[in-house]
Amino acid sequence: MAELRLPPNSRVGKGKTFKAPEKAKRVKAFNIYRWDPDDVDDKGKPKTPRMDRYEVDVGNCAPMVLDALIKIKDEVDSTLTFRRSCREGICGSCAMNIDGTNTLACIKPIEDVSGDVNIYPLPHMQVVKDLVPDMNHFYAQYESIQPWLQTETPAPGGERLQSPEDRAKLDGLYECILCACCSTACPSYWWNSDRFLGPAILLQAYRWIIDSRDEMTGDRLDNLEDPFRLYRCHTIMNCAKTCPKGLNPAKAIAEIKKLMVERAV
Ligand code: SF4
Ligand code: SF4
Ligand code: FES
Repeated sequence: MAELRLPPNSRVGKGKTFKAPEKAKRVKAFNIYRWDPDDVDDKGKPKTPRMDRYEVDVGNCAPMVLDALIKIKDEVDSTLTFRRSCREGICGSCAMNIDGTNTLACIKPIEDVSGDVNIYPLPHMQVVKDLVPDMNHFYAQYESIQPWLQTETPAPGGERLQSPEDRAKLDGLYECILCACCSTACPSYWWNSDRFLGPAILLQAYRWIIDSRDEMTGDRLDNLEDPFRLYRCHTIMNCAKTCPKGLNPAKAIAEIKKLMVERAV
C-alpha cells in the first residue's frame, strides 16, 4: 500500500512550550517552525524540524506579528532566528508564512489571526535556520533579467524624460519589494523553480520591458522566450492573492505574453 505520510525524518515534530508569565492578561500562542543545521543527533546529522510553542502576553506587546517575534527573541528565547529590517513593509525581509498565507510579519496584525498563530518559513525554499529561507537562487534569477536601465542612444545632457502617461505604466510594478511571497506561493514555481522565473522576477522583468526610457526591450523579450522561464505560468493566480503590497504579478506576466504574440505577428 502507498505510504501517504512523509517519512519520519521529514516530519515536523513537537517542540518545547514556553508558558506565558503568570500575570499575563491576554495570552496568545505562537507555534513557530524551528530548525537549526547545527543541532545534530548522535550520528552528526541535523535533527528534524520542530514546532516550538510560545505563549505571549499580547496585552503587553505591540500589534504586529513581527512585534511578537521580537518580544519572544528579546524576552523568552534568543535562539529564535528570523529576518527583519524596516518594520514597515518596505524591505521585504520579514516575509514568512503566517496563518497559512505568505505575508510580511511587520504588517500582519496579530488580531487578524483567530486562535493560535502558526508561523513557518516561506514554503518550498531551502531553510537556512528557523524562519530564514535561502534567497540565493531567487536573487540570481533577479540578476538574470538585468534589472537596470539599459540604453543605446547617447546619454542626454540632463535627465531621461518620461511623459506622465509613460510613467503611469510603472504603477503597480515599481512598488514590488522582492519579498518573494508571490513566487513561493506559486505551484509552478514550487515544481520548476530551477527554470521558471516565477511571478516576482517576471513582474520585475516587465517593469523594465515597459519602461519607455529603456532601449533593450527586444533583448529582454528574447531572454524570456523560453518554454520554462516565462511559459510555466498557468494563471493559477496565487501570486496576486498573496502579495502583501496588493500587486498583480499574473497581470504583468500576461502582458509579457501579449508582447510576445504581438511581435510574432
Ligand atoms: S510582487 Fe508582491 S509578493 Fe511578489 S515579490 Fe513583489 S511585493 Fe513581494
Ligand atoms: S498566475 Fe502564474 S505566476 Fe501567478 S501563481 Fe499562478 S502560475 Fe504562478
Ligand atoms: S521588516 Fe521590512 S518588510 Fe517587514
